[in-house]
Amino acid sequence: MKGDAHSRVKRWPWTMRSLPTNPNGDFSSALPLGVAPSPHSVTLVEGLQMTQDFVHEPVLAAEVVNAMAVEDGIIVDATLGGAGHSALLLERYPQVRIIGIDRDPIAREAARRRLAPYGDRSTVVAGDFASMATLVRPLTHDVPIRGVLMDLGVSSPQLDDGSRGFSFRYDAPLDMRMDTTQGETAAQYIASADVYELADLFREHGESRFAGAIARSVIAALPTTTSELVSAVERAVPAAARRRGHVATRVFQALRVVVNDEEAQLREGLDAAISLLAPGGVLVVMSYHSGEDKVVKKFMLEGESGGCTCPPQLPCVCGAISTLEVTRHGAILASSDEVERNPRARSARLRIARLKELA
Ligand SMILES: C[S@@+](CC[C@H](N)C(=O)[O-])C[C@H]1O[C@@H](n2cnc3c(N)ncnc32)[C@H](O)[C@@H]1O
Repeated sequence: MKGDAHSRVKRWPWTMRSLPTNPNGDFSSALPLGVAPSPHSVTLVEGLQMTQDFVHEPVLAAEVVNAMAVEDGIIVDATLGGAGHSALLLERYPQVRIIGIDRDPIAREAARRRLAPYGDRSTVVAGDFASMATLVRPLTHDVPIRGVLMDLGVSSPQLDDGSRGFSFRYDAPLDMRMDTTQGETAAQYIASADVYELADLFREHGESRFAGAIARSVIAALPTTTSELVSAVERAVPAAARRRGHVATRVFQALRVVVNDEEAQLREGLDAAISLLAPGGVLVVMSYHSGEDKVVKKFMLEGESGGCTCPPQLPCVCGAISTLEVTRHGAILASSDEVERNPRARSARLRIARLKELA
């Protein structure tokens, strides 16, 4: 083991820097000291071009908007993306302001453009949602936060942008960072990992049968592009077992999760969301894989039970304090119509909880 993957990813503090506007439009000077720019660091010109094409259809849009049901105050959109949900929320709730966070500079730029018609009703903030409390508090001016939305994972433009390395469908440098201005790329992560760490990672993400073989093949290849990674996976897994790209899907997802420190981000982000909400405020979380959904479900149920250890049929005597009310048990899923229109809605799981008004 050469070290903990998350601690390596976290080696650079998640403080945000404003993007440099030097004449070359080169963002690489925003990289931490000692980190070489990735071969495909996004230039300002490319970034602007991408924001023109940033189209992400918000998943379970009506359900998210209805779940918020707020009259006034602030909604924090902790995963702003292309601001699809945020724009709908601003339309539906005319007294509400949005503070939107995203760690992806291209997403933020697209969101700014999308929200421009709403003037000062929206504020776009650079950063990660684990730091949501610190980022948002100075911006509220004591206006209560009535809702927090977390629409986890990556957006369609991130997946479909062939240059970012999130998808095995496009040959690209193996990057996978949502925040292209800092941290290790997937290629750098692989180069500094060992075979046991990679095998554990792939196992955790559902690739139990071939995790060891894939890890050995990946370490032997040290891929720097998506197609090299796919080839390394293919060499390790017999063709019959590679059903419709599922193995590559899981390997790519596992690497994306570790490169972006998504597990710690989610746990810290959920705590931060609760710390921000005003009593009665709503937490709306949408996840796209079972590992994430389990964390969200457990967090909400523990908030509801307050960690109570009493037998369910008896009144609580252990002193647990319930802080959350889960407004609907069981996740909300997309309808077959929505999935047909937007296949990315297929794996979405929406969960909603309300912060209780404590007596
Ligand atoms: C599924 S998309 C959100 C799409 C958005 N709801 C919309 O309607 O356009 C998720 C977004 O969250 C961002 N994101 C993911 N994890 C994040 C984190 N830990 N901190 C901040 N932003 C994050 C990604 O960069 C991406 O833009």
